[in-house]
Amino acid sequence: MTTKEERRAQLTGVYREARGCPRCPELARTRTQVVFGAGNADADLMFVGEAPGAKEDEQGIPFVGAAGKLLDQLLGEVGLSRGDVFIANVLKCRPPGNRDPLPGEIENCSDYLMRQVELIQPRVICTLGNFSTKLLRGDPTGISRLHGHAEILVIGGRAVRLYPLFHPAAALYTRSLLDTLRADFARLPALLALDPPAQPEPPAPPEPAVPEPALAAPEAPPPLEPEPLEPVERYEPPVPEPPDDRQLGLF
Ligand code: URA
Repeated sequence: MTTKEERRAQLTGVYREARGCPRCPELARTRTQVVFGAGNADADLMFVGEAPGAKEDEQGIPFVGAAGKLLDQLLGEVGLSRGDVFIANVLKCRPPGNRDPLPGEIENCSDYLMRQVELIQPRVICTLGNFSTKLLRGDPTGISRLHGHAEILVIGGRAVRLYPLFHPAAALYTRSLLDTLRADFARLPALLALDPPAQPEPPAPPEPAVPEPALAAPEAPPPLEPEPLEPVERYEPPVPEPPDDRQLGLF
């Protein structure tokens, strides 16, 4: 059992690892910075979008553009704010020109998302749009069929209620999608009020090894004269902090 402070410290460790991530050479070359995610590191509710856009890449914070403003508004309508939730994306780096995430990029990045879920321990995860819904359900069914219906799934080793929603960027341009997204959002407080889903049994500890019967000890060689050791001075260089590491203050 870990405390929320321990989980936050571990999340900070995952962030430190992710911020220099070299796994997708094109994204590592073209990004301004990794957009790890922001919000309450102990949130009951987590949102997972697609990937940072230009504004997010510039500021290091997810959903700060027009779609983010709509997300803030919808949160406010159900009595929540960013400080109550954690917001992340499938990809932590901006795809150049806002192209769709590539399958290899999703695969490279998914372990950061799984570790975020494992450490934040949300009760409800809202996937925003197709990419996060398909990834977290492990199934190609699209958002139009799934939105607004919660299901219990095990993600990052945790049982959570997954609640797919239309992506706010899509709702910006289509009035009927906005109405649907708003109606789906309105069910969030009731979903959060449900008892948390039962957690899967932790894996059983390994069986203690059965000791082997002792073998006769081989004859010991005569002791060697110890060689005098040269003292070695070991220099551990300090790990440099980036000069403006705002993201650390965001969760
Ligand atoms: N769209 C996303 O999916 N994520 C962001 O962070 C911003 C826009």
